[in-house]
Amino acid sequence: MAMTLASLDGRSQAEDPTISPLAVRGLTVSYGEKPAVFSVDMTLSKGRMTAIVGPNGAGKSTLLKAALGIISPLAGQALVHGKSLKSQRHRIAYVPQRASVDWDFPTRVIDVVLMGLQRELGLLGRVRAHHRERALACLDRVGMQDFADRQIGQLSGGQQQRVFLARALSQNADLYMLDEPFAGVDAATERAIIAVLKSLREEGKTVVAVHHDLATVTEYFDDIFLINTRKVAEGPVETTFTAENLNKTYGGRLAMAQIDQLELAAG
Ligand SMILES: Nc1ncnc2c1ncn2[C@@H]1O[C@H](COP(=O)(O)OP(=O)(O)OP(=O)(O)O)[C@@H](O)[C@H]1O
Ligand SMILES: [Mg+2]
Repeated sequence: MAMTLASLDGRSQAEDPTISPLAVRGLTVSYGEKPAVFSVDMTLSKGRMTAIVGPNGAGKSTLLKAALGIISPLAGQALVHGKSLKSQRHRIAYVPQRASVDWDFPTRVIDVVLMGLQRELGLLGRVRAHHRERALACLDRVGMQDFADRQIGQLSGGQQQRVFLARALSQNADLYMLDEPFAGVDAATERAIIAVLKSLREEGKTVVAVHHDLATVTEYFDDIFLINTRKVAEGPVETTFTAENLNKTYGGRLAMAQIDQLELAAG
């Protein structure tokens, strides 16, 4: 039987749709004595958008970073499409929390997007015309094509966020992990970002995003994962986004009046 390059890559082989694109098992992460994430299981469903919701300091960013292997957990593991993270890491695109990135060093926007092609380019690979075209197409998708030659440090926060998303797109991943993609962006940028995420979902890709705005959970997401160091609940928004689960997650820090205004599932 002929083995094509594509099948060697593993992407084009028919993949069992019931296997989770990301399954986290027993994950515990600690920076000091107290764990920031404790014994967490998380199972993302293919082709769906999941919101990770919880208060400041709940371990949301830590969970994403540990699931990606950026920080090592004390215990637990992440399986990507049922395989080791190491062998599948290239199938995940990550957009970090904006405040955590320092863009003072001079880099052009187009070069930031080309970083997403690193694996294809290899260590010594030359950027060819078709790479540049692909990067520009990704910038176009987020409405930033005209900024390709600008310095990233000279862009506004919302514009930078769009560029990070373009970098993630250029990777052509299956799973997109975003840490607060809507933080500090205006309504137009928020709409542009959500449109891109929804189009990824239409292509069958899986999206998970840390999200603080409870008012848009129902409109934007299919599934929700509630965390406060430990997992509180996970499942479809229609059944899991309840006042009871929010109370458990925020420990009374949300006023009832605030909760009353939300489009919640019947709890
Ligand atoms: N590099 C670090 N060193 C030490 N402690 C850390 C570090 N990063 C995070 N922490 C601590 O771990 C806990 C979880 O932090 P994390 O950034 O994961 O929370 P978060 O849910 O993403 O919060 P936010 O909504 O504010 O972004 C917090 O108590 C935080 O102070
Ligand atoms: Mg965070």
